Amino acid sequence: MAGQGISRREFIISTAGAIALAARPSRLHAGAGAPDEALRSKLAHDPHRPQYHFLPAANWMNDPNGPIYWKGVYHMFYQYNPHGAYWGDMHWGHARSPDLIHWEHLPMALAPTPGGPDKDGCFSGSAVDHDGVPTLFYTGVSPEVQCMATSRDMITFRKYAKNPVISGPPEGLTVTGFRDPVLWREGGNWMLLIGSGFRGVGGTALLYESKNLTDWKYLHTLSTGKLDPHVQSKDPVATAEMWECPDFFPLGDKHVLLISTQYKVRYYVGEYEDRRFHLNPHRLIDFGAYYAAKSMMDGKGRRILWGWIQERRSVEAQKAAGWSGVLSLPRVLSLRKDGFVGMEPAPEVESLRGQEHRMQAQRVKGDFVPLPGVRGETLEITAEIDPGSSEECGLAVRAGPDGGERTLILYRRRPGTLAFDSTHSSLDPQTTRGVDERPLDLAKGKNLKLRVFLDGSAVEIFANGRACLTGRVYPTKAESLGLGLVARGGSARLVSMQVWEMRPVSRDRLTT
Ligand code: FRU
Repeated sequence: MAGQGISRREFIISTAGAIALAARPSRLHAGAGAPDEALRSKLAHDPHRPQYHFLPAANWMNDPNGPIYWKGVYHMFYQYNPHGAYWGDMHWGHARSPDLIHWEHLPMALAPTPGGPDKDGCFSGSAVDHDGVPTLFYTGVSPEVQCMATSRDMITFRKYAKNPVISGPPEGLTVTGFRDPVLWREGGNWMLLIGSGFRGVGGTALLYESKNLTDWKYLHTLSTGKLDPHVQSKDPVATAEMWECPDFFPLGDKHVLLISTQYKVRYYVGEYEDRRFHLNPHRLIDFGAYYAAKSMMDGKGRRILWGWIQERRSVEAQKAAGWSGVLSLPRVLSLRKDGFVGMEPAPEVESLRGQEHRMQAQRVKGDFVPLPGVRGETLEITAEIDPGSSEECGLAVRAGPDGGERTLILYRRRPGTLAFDSTHSSLDPQTTRGVDERPLDLAKGKNLKLRVFLDGSAVEIFANGRACLTGRVYPTKAESLGLGLVARGGSARLVSMQVWEMRPVSRDRLTT
């Protein structure tokens, strides 16, 4: 396996430790695909690289894997290609944090073993604490099989000698895929769920049970979804005939099943009985560039969700940039009385707030009402807007002074949606632009409450505590940093608005 260990002394677990981590120069491990000087300098000056979201020092990342709170520290693993900013040769990158915000990159946790069951890649999975032993479960390819690795120090991982622990789908089942294990304890046993699906039927999650983590008995499918008859594709993920990255946990007095399919993360809220989960209609965790979400419990009893924020520019542009993929901010989940899963950024994010600006309450009318006095690449915005008589209202962000490049975050009264309009976000033809729009019904008389995080090219939006929309924007002009208000087809009222300049978590955009 790649990577060398580091001494525990180097990592101080305290708030003071967090500040020390943030302040000191980056220290990267050769094993972590560390960029050379030329690339480091390029990345440090790349305005599209986020400054307070987690991302590897360079190269490609996708799914968060096995987030775990272990001995007072948050550990994050993730799908990583050390060879460049494109998907391939999947490794598990690894980082740790005392506070969910400041990260230290660690040696790679898993790399494919030539000739082994993971020779073609270490795909997504989970981490558990097995009686004090940090244990990773992941999918080895190809074919897709389930593998295990353990550690003594939570830094270097040793693969189980008898891998794979599950050598293929249950006998007699023909499935569209067999990957992304997630585990939990039930009674004295371990339960394990694997993402899968049936052609012509829909995605599914296969349920297993074990006493010791190595001998597994297949029970049955936990639940099975329906394929999308409107999509014709050979790719079972595109048609919802394959569920990727399942996650399953209690929330409030219900259970929640998360699955990733059709390039979105769905959630189902329901009852878990007799080891089966009965599906109700699903909702989406996020309407935008957000996939393969994975949750963890922390020491405060919080269920925290992470997701992969994908790029929205061409593969060539990603390769040329030298990096691709970002992790979302940690989201604390709750079960709301209205049946939605509530999502709020973890309060720890607020520790990054620097200078604060308060906007005057005001009537808003027009396509772009500039808000002078505040601009920036790394901002947190909270805004409460009374839609009034307007047909659509909201914010313009990353806007040029002439309104040239701009990104709109809008509530549309009819048909009752939240829209992320990136049509004019960038003049760069290599970026994907358009409108991402999904239901947000505001009851009559209710205001739009937005919380928006701008960080380089990443835009994370929380609306009324229950709808999230993540976007990517790549403005080309240095002056596209402004904010504005929008109200069309009538007037709206800005009730309150605060903006904070957010502090970077590192000096050089390398996140560590
Ligand atoms: C989801 C996914 C997983 C797989 C991993 C490979 O994005 O396709 O199903 O394990 O990515 O990188």
